[in-house]
Amino acid sequence: MPPVAERTLDLRADFPILDRAPGAGPLVYLDSGATSQKPRVVLDALDEHLRRHNANVHRGVYPLAQEADAAFESARRRIAALTGAEPGSTIFTKNATEAINLVAYAWGRANIGPGDAVLITQMEHHANIVPWQILCAERGAALRYLELDQRGELSLTALEAELARGDVRLVAFAHVSNVLGTINPVAEMTARIRAAGAVSLIDGAQAVPQLPVDVTAIGADFYAWTGHKALGPTGIGVLHGNSELLEQMPPFLTGGDMIASVDFDGASWNELPFKFEAGTPPIAEAVGLAAAADYLSSITMERVREHELALTEYMLEGLAGVPGLRVVGPPEASCRGALASFTIDGLHPHDIAEILGRDGVCVRAGHHCAQPLMRCLGVGATARASLGVYNERADIDALIGSLQRSRGIFGL
Ligand SMILES: Cc1ncc(COP(=O)(O)O)c(C=O)c1O
Repeated sequence: MPPVAERTLDLRADFPILDRAPGAGPLVYLDSGATSQKPRVVLDALDEHLRRHNANVHRGVYPLAQEADAAFESARRRIAALTGAEPGSTIFTKNATEAINLVAYAWGRANIGPGDAVLITQMEHHANIVPWQILCAERGAALRYLELDQRGELSLTALEAELARGDVRLVAFAHVSNVLGTINPVAEMTARIRAAGAVSLIDGAQAVPQLPVDVTAIGADFYAWTGHKALGPTGIGVLHGNSELLEQMPPFLTGGDMIASVDFDGASWNELPFKFEAGTPPIAEAVGLAAAADYLSSITMERVREHELALTEYMLEGLAGVPGLRVVGPPEASCRGALASFTIDGLHPHDIAEILGRDGVCVRAGHHCAQPLMRCLGVGATARASLGVYNERADIDALIGSLQRSRGIFGL
């Protein structure tokens, strides 16, 4: 195998925004965990669709409307293919948050009651906490949290012990943590959950942009992700569901397009996936996300992961050389996604992010929508550098240089 440096990707030129310099130096974008930048093929696909093929879908019979229908359903097939899913059970939502809420409302309200428990984990994003808090409070059910170990990882034995209590109806957990970077053993978890007769939901918001994901092999009942972190536009999320469960579930949002027929005193529902897509769907956004899926598929997600893993190793080495810096989560790059959340003794994460920003280095600071996890870690906030396919070693060098300068500014 060639050395790591020769195996890395060189995609920076595909991303026009990276030519900008909003700070003192060239743009060093290390906030892909919040949202990714977009390659030219995605920008062009959006432009071409809106300029030449724009019409509403599932209602027009004229040729332009048929072009829009074809573009939208082709987008669904290509997006489903990225994650090994069936297009018929691939539902478009607004984002990952809405996809999780869909399950909490439609499946949860029909299936969770007093005496039942929903199990989530201490590493969840608020999007995978609050919908379950509300559901459990409303239905008189218990919400329990799987604890993390010292490395920021989950224990399969602890999962089995929770499932053995006999009351868990649903387990919801992240594929990749947006703070710790931890990659969870999702297939091993879904196998145990299924064996216990419970339903699984995976929050794949951070996984789909950076790992080969095959939702069929993973075997989750529900798998949610979001387009804007995976090189696509904002305004579109994806829920892959077990079609048997989706068939049984009542609708989530109601109105146009999700019905088969409506009379004065009732309505019947459309077939999957349209039953869960009320109103005009995100048409141009689906076309843009499909262009992103094609782009990632042409590189292959295996190469994306290889590239980002090599950069993560390089970043962890660099961060280890900054005095007083502590990275949270598993220490080995191979156990984590392409991000590092950290604190530096004597420097507030917001100060770090602001000083880095002046140098053109974009990192995020705060609780990362994971306040319960912050409490487990015993910190109020961290700074987080998260990578994308377009990053290269020079970006990491800029990060480390800027962190060293920040320490200097504060006399450390
Ligand atoms: C792990 C995780 N889950 C869910 C979300 C929510 O994604 P969205 O805001 O696109 O719904 C995020 C976004 O930061 C995330 O990192």
